[in-house]
Amino acid sequence: MISNNQKSAIADSRPVRSASTYSGGVGVDRDDLWESHADWWIAGFTEGADPEYEEQILPLAAAELAGYDRVLDVGCGDGQISRLLARLGARTVVGIDPTWNQIAVAGERAGGPTFARAGAAALPFADESFDAVVACLVFEHIRDVDSAIAEVARVLRPGGRFAFFLNHPLLQTPNSGWIDDQVLDPPEQYWRIGPYLIEDETIEQVEQGVFIPFIHRPMSRYLNTLIDNGLLLERMEEPAPPAGFLARAAEYEAAATIPRLLYLRTTKFAGR
Ligand SMILES: C[S@@+](CC[C@H](N)C(=O)[O-])C[C@H]1O[C@@H](n2cnc3c(N)ncnc32)[C@H](O)[C@@H]1O
Repeated sequence: MISNNQKSAIADSRPVRSASTYSGGVGVDRDDLWESHADWWIAGFTEGADPEYEEQILPLAAAELAGYDRVLDVGCGDGQISRLLARLGARTVVGIDPTWNQIAVAGERAGGPTFARAGAAALPFADESFDAVVACLVFEHIRDVDSAIAEVARVLRPGGRFAFFLNHPLLQTPNSGWIDDQVLDPPEQYWRIGPYLIEDETIEQVEQGVFIPFIHRPMSRYLNTLIDNGLLLERMEEPAPPAGFLARAAEYEAAATIPRLLYLRTTKFAGR
């Protein structure tokens, strides 16, 4: 969000997040927010609509997951990553998501994968049934992170890969953003980081009338839970925002050195 105040901030995680609070709506349960706003995600971030997916996320997912045969896409949304993996030649691709309005569109868009309605904390699959698991911008919406990561580890075969994409937990905290402080003399520009150590759920207004729940956690919370479940870190990427994103607003260019995406490649411990 870019404001015209003297002190202005681009509070832009992915999507652009602002700190507006959710006052509720008649008949709208907090747990139904993804259901109510699935069309916002599908229209704005899939099928070529979003430069960060097109220029950064999908190519990275393709590079990280090419060659795996049985792949699970946790929180698959409309299935854009699942379809990519099917195009790359994976024999079995399964996408799961608890939101009917995402899974229904995934089913319509088809493209080879199988889609099912399920949440990450209770995956309806046998132990060690996948060679790779991917979760892209999903865990920041999952409350029960311990069960969800344990489930990923359970369904992955030893030596299998978990490709984990997150909004950068350190740099994209709630209330983070680019500050152009014209009150100071001389004026100062900097990236503000919101409360980092506090694990917290906020309902954020990502667009006029669109409210999405986000759960912030410190990076150590994710890393230690992965390690506790035998998912060992092999590689970490913090790519700069891609050109197509930066071109969308002059203010984005100012924050070009602040990564929005964190990618962690982990491998399930295979024993000695
Ligand atoms: C930002 S979208 C990302 C969709 C997809 N991974 C992609 O990259 O296009 C987040 C998705 O997480 C799903 N989600 C929310 N809570 C979840 C849960 N407990 N388990 C699995 N997915 C969940 C939402 O329904 C939504 O489709």
